[in-house]
Amino acid sequence: MSTQTIDALFSRTERERCLDAFPAGSNGEFNFPPELAIVVERGEGAYLWDTDSRRYLDMSMGWGSVLVGHANEQVISAASAQAALGSNFACVNRRSLELAERIISISPACDRVRFCASGTEATHYCGRVARAATGRSTILKFEGAYHGANDLGVTSLFPDKLRAFPHAERSCHGVTQAAADQIIVAPFNDLEYTAAIIREHRGELAAVIVEPFHRCIAPLDGFLPGLRRLCDQHGILLIFDEVVTGFRLAYGGAQQYYGVVPDLVAYGKALGGGLPIGVFGGRRGLMQIVEEHRMNKEPYVWTASTLGGNPVSCAAAWAALDHLERPGIYPRLHKLGQYLRDGLRRVMDEESVTGQVIGDGPLAQFIFSSEPVYDYRSTRAGDRAKARRILLGLIRRGIFLNPMGTKLYLSTEHSESDCDTFIEAFRGALQDDEGN
Ligand SMILES: Cc1ncc(COP(=O)(O)O)c(C=O)c1O
Repeated sequence: MSTQTIDALFSRTERERCLDAFPAGSNGEFNFPPELAIVVERGEGAYLWDTDSRRYLDMSMGWGSVLVGHANEQVISAASAQAALGSNFACVNRRSLELAERIISISPACDRVRFCASGTEATHYCGRVARAATGRSTILKFEGAYHGANDLGVTSLFPDKLRAFPHAERSCHGVTQAAADQIIVAPFNDLEYTAAIIREHRGELAAVIVEPFHRCIAPLDGFLPGLRRLCDQHGILLIFDEVVTGFRLAYGGAQQYYGVVPDLVAYGKALGGGLPIGVFGGRRGLMQIVEEHRMNKEPYVWTASTLGGNPVSCAAAWAALDHLERPGIYPRLHKLGQYLRDGLRRVMDEESVTGQVIGDGPLAQFIFSSEPVYDYRSTRAGDRAKARRILLGLIRRGIFLNPMGTKLYLSTEHSESDCDTFIEAFRGALQDDEGN
């Protein structure tokens, strides 16, 4: 079927309703072009159906929040049983207490945690606690890293002026210049450069925040231990944003996978089994800063989230962790990710397309560049216009993904045969693109 015929299948009225209800027709998540306004009806396992009953292989999985698959039976029954008993008390409850204890037992960095409702909140609180604990105001992030929709996350998120390090770029207006000035940036994976920046700014640096697996780029050997050492040397706190890596690269997340323990850690996404959740934590002494009896004393950080620790999300998270803790889950997720990446590389070779596939565990990303990819600037060197054409071509071929070109997320419910479906759709999209 030609692309035009397929476009014609998308219901005009839904497209119009989306554009009337949402800026650019979306809730900000995917930026579909208007001719591909997909309205999702339901999901099951690794698949989605839209309101026109078209089925898609989901390679986004709620931006990675549904690692255990859509409509996971254990998650449904845990969440619905709890919903019948009350869905929010804004108070410690049996479910949040049990889950907090379980997270503390899994996460080496945490001996105290607080719940919130999203990854954005969790990283935001980490930044505040670090500033309060050190009495310093600057935070170093890695260029291109996303830590949620807060000031830290959106500053130098997709910079295009590529200013000299460590100057940050306001990728998002509405962030005040004063807030942006308190963020400095370094190139991911360049320990020497980062060390020089840290040394120069050590008197003002509260923390270094890092996605241990930066977007879809693995840390080079020694990079994370090097950050740990530098932070220790200079009395700076190390924050791991484990919103993506948590419970995904390993049950114990990036801390277990890379063997480095931060001072503060933020979680979200996969933990909730698809329900809203955020958690941040650290060692007891640091987390004392949020204890309410300190209010009006220094240092004290206010943290409160109306839906944080709600028992429905916590019950869902408990079920998701049960699912992930089963023997063989992580080896299978890693094997499947490898199978997908190998297949995509093979197709690029067979179709004589210049490019590469990066990723680890159940995460992958293709980039149309032959140059090594190790940080934001090297990723940007790829042919992004081509990547966007291919991603849109994949959607037209029944694959659901994020056309902004970020990661592909596998779940425990994907199979090798699903990967084959994706790999062949990729081949088709490449061929269509070459034919144009
Ligand atoms: C690494 C990372 N941190 C934080 C966030 C923000 O999480 P949320 O969208 O739940 O606020 C995201 C979301 O994509 C993320 O990828």
